[in-house]
Amino acid sequence: MQIFTTRKGLRDYLNSLENKHLSLGFVPTMGALHPGHISLLESAKKHCDLSICSIFVNPGQFNDPDDLKRYPRMPEKDAELLTKHGCDVLFMPEVEDIYPEKPNESYDFGHLDKVLEGAHRPGHFNGVAQVLSRFFNILRPDRAFFGEKDYQQMLIVKALVKQLDVKVEI
Ligand code: PAF
Repeated sequence: MQIFTTRKGLRDYLNSLENKHLSLGFVPTMGALHPGHISLLESAKKHCDLSICSIFVNPGQFNDPDDLKRYPRMPEKDAELLTKHGCDVLFMPEVEDIYPEKPNESYDFGHLDKVLEGAHRPGHFNGVAQVLSRFFNILRPDRAFFGEKDYQQMLIVKALVKQLDVKVEI
């Protein structure tokens, strides 16, 4: 498994593969990987030529700074697990690399982010959208895989992809 900690490193690598026309399957995560993540990786491997997982604890989607501080971080263990399950590429960028400046774009998801989890976590889905728009832009994946357990998030991601007009199948 190739590991990249900068977007430039990852982009250079993906550019070097461009003439191979590989389809890219992306599994975004915040780490602390469990069997659900591994099943998404298995889908990415099944449907795409190259599987890429990201581990990035995205500050923008935490309402409570203490939750962000307490969020479990175990990159070595996660990397071991991904290697064991045949992931091709792991992307683990620093916050400054993804957000050189504080992000301020805001998305309109209508009713979708005002109900259920969104009602209790104002700004949470906007933070998810901010980070995914960056990742889609950096990786340009053909497909991206999300757990159906987070059904509201999945609907928001589908709406985001429409708004951004990016060619990624969710
Ligand atoms: O579901 C998650 O773990 C996160 O919301 C995601 C999609 C990785 C974005 O940070």
